[in-house]
Amino acid sequence: MRMYDVIHKKKDGFALTEAEIQFFVRGVTDGSVPDYQITALLMAICLKGMTPAETTALTLAMANSGDTLDLGGLPGIKVDKHSTGGVGDKTTLVVAPMVAAMGVTVAKMSGRSLGHTGGTVDKLEGIPGFNTGLTMEEFFATVRRTGICLSGQSMSLAPADKKIYALRDATATIESIPLIAASIMSKKIAAGANRILLDVKTGSGSFMKTLDDARGLAKAMVAIGEGAGRKTAALITDMSAPLGFAIGNILEIQEAIAVLRGEGPEDLRHVCVELAAHMLYLAEKGTIEHCRKLAEEAIASGKAPEKFAEVVAAQGGDRAYIDDPERFPKAKTVCVVTAPQSGYIQAMDTEGIGVTALMLGAGREKPDDIIDHTAGLILHAKTADRVEKGQPLATLYTSDEAKADTAREKFLKCFTFSDTPVEKPPLIYCEIT
Ligand code: URA
Repeated sequence: MRMYDVIHKKKDGFALTEAEIQFFVRGVTDGSVPDYQITALLMAICLKGMTPAETTALTLAMANSGDTLDLGGLPGIKVDKHSTGGVGDKTTLVVAPMVAAMGVTVAKMSGRSLGHTGGTVDKLEGIPGFNTGLTMEEFFATVRRTGICLSGQSMSLAPADKKIYALRDATATIESIPLIAASIMSKKIAAGANRILLDVKTGSGSFMKTLDDARGLAKAMVAIGEGAGRKTAALITDMSAPLGFAIGNILEIQEAIAVLRGEGPEDLRHVCVELAAHMLYLAEKGTIEHCRKLAEEAIASGKAPEKFAEVVAAQGGDRAYIDDPERFPKAKTVCVVTAPQSGYIQAMDTEGIGVTALMLGAGREKPDDIIDHTAGLILHAKTADRVEKGQPLATLYTSDEAKADTAREKFLKCFTFSDTPVEKPPLIYCEIT
């Protein structure tokens, strides 16, 4: 088989066979296919698409390109959750302990921030001492002891995806439904859970800007999960505005703790309860209504914040910060941005707000940039809220004063105003099973 012929076939719009896809992924993994041929095929896939059978074959080949976790020795049903990425999306920090507090094993591997979107691992590393780089043995020992683990992808899970993702990032081939679906699902399948809940974001802060695209991605991923023998469901949730008010690593940890304690923003709380309820439902804890009650109970009983403190301590973190979030370090520079005019907030460029947080130091411009865990912003108003000229729109936080002015300018460009009332977007659009 020749890579040249595989590229040619896809360029002409034909479906590749399973053997051709496996040949490609093997070549990516062992380095025998050069980067220029990998990117040529990725561009052809981006332009010509893939059938469901091709997407499944690509996913399974990538899932099997490295380590795969066998969670069979752990008790009960294991449920995983994945978000396609958003701004202010700290749901894993809330939902994973909620579900574990209700007796369902959550052995979770999370990623780092990607472009304008935050990553759970970077957020967790804002907790002093917290270790996200667990070995396989430490990962299993933590799950056995606490029923939950929140690790980074320290093992060699789906290395073919890692290589392909980096090349897609550099060649404008990220926005392809089959490539995104295969990338996400290869890691989920390699991570071993037998039930998977997908949180597919749609709106200006997500990779899928339209509801149609989000639906297409959700359907593709659910089909792959089911095809691989993992019970899979997806919720399509809103990312036309950031989730909650906090964006930035420590700020998001503090907001997540507030929600775990029954406080915090209502939109974040609602989405977390729904996600937790659907995970509990996948774990066969009862009807969806009953699972909603269990999710609420995890918060009301205090079991969920206790579970979060427990997993933080189990992974080497200092739980004193979870018990008293005021202990977290604060940014040196704090700057309030006010509304340039009166009116109703008509829309937010949520990707732009994510970029603002990144410019303040909360994310990476380049892969080796060091994150400022105290940086980010707290919104004081969101879509549909009425604001008066001069009223605070957000507070920006950074350790580097020089970054504040350009971030402020960027932030102000992210809002449009209307003289007439605006409807709040729905938080959850639909469920795909
Ligand atoms: N997240 C992933 O892991 N892969 C993609 O392709 C997009 C988002």
